[in-house]
Amino acid sequence: MNAMGKIGWILALILAIGLGAMSYTFLVKGQTVPYADGRTSILLSPDERNQVLGEMRAVLEGTRTIIEDAVAGDMQAAEKQARSMGMAAAKQDTAIIAKLPLDFKSLGLGLHGSFDDLADFIAENPDPLKVVDEVSTLMVQCVACHDAYRLGIEGEADISGE
Ligand code: HEC
Repeated sequence: MNAMGKIGWILALILAIGLGAMSYTFLVKGQTVPYADGRTSILLSPDERNQVLGEMRAVLEGTRTIIEDAVAGDMQAAEKQARSMGMAAAKQDTAIIAKLPLDFKSLGLGLHGSFDDLADFIAENPDPLKVVDEVSTLMVQCVACHDAYRLGIEGEADISGE
């Protein structure tokens, strides 16, 4: 191999390492920093943070509605509510997606999938107690994600919580 060829390979290698590091940052790590209480902070703009928190409040209200409908014996309404929170409802702004770690995205998509599973479960088991039990199992996912992540604001001084 001549000298130019060697330089070409070295450049290609540097480029590959650079691209690897970039995809790690963008796809796996997202825009995150460690937080003092052991959780990981995902850094968003104030508007993006408000948007995600608003979605969270809607998920809480939707989950509560499923329990209310099931206990009232309105299984069709419970199924419909669960379905409305399924995969078909999974959407997020590209700018936000780029900042979310891969694990967070899969937890989020997993939750949407679980609401579809819950809708199927309700259709097959129109029994309030069984449905409430299933909702409590589904909510393990809420707890797991909340234990692992918080939402911080980009450039916030006290972001490490220390
Ligand atoms: C993929 C991760 C993830 C999942 C799954 C998840 N959440 Fe959250 N949620 C978060 C994060 C991160 C926050 C912000 C917490 C913080 O900054 O301390 C949050 C905040 C919230 C808030 C507070 C909203 C506000 O205005 O402050 C509510 C309510 C909430 N989630 C409900 C739920 C419920 C109910 C479920 C399950 C049905 C759920 N979440 C599942 C990540 C998740």
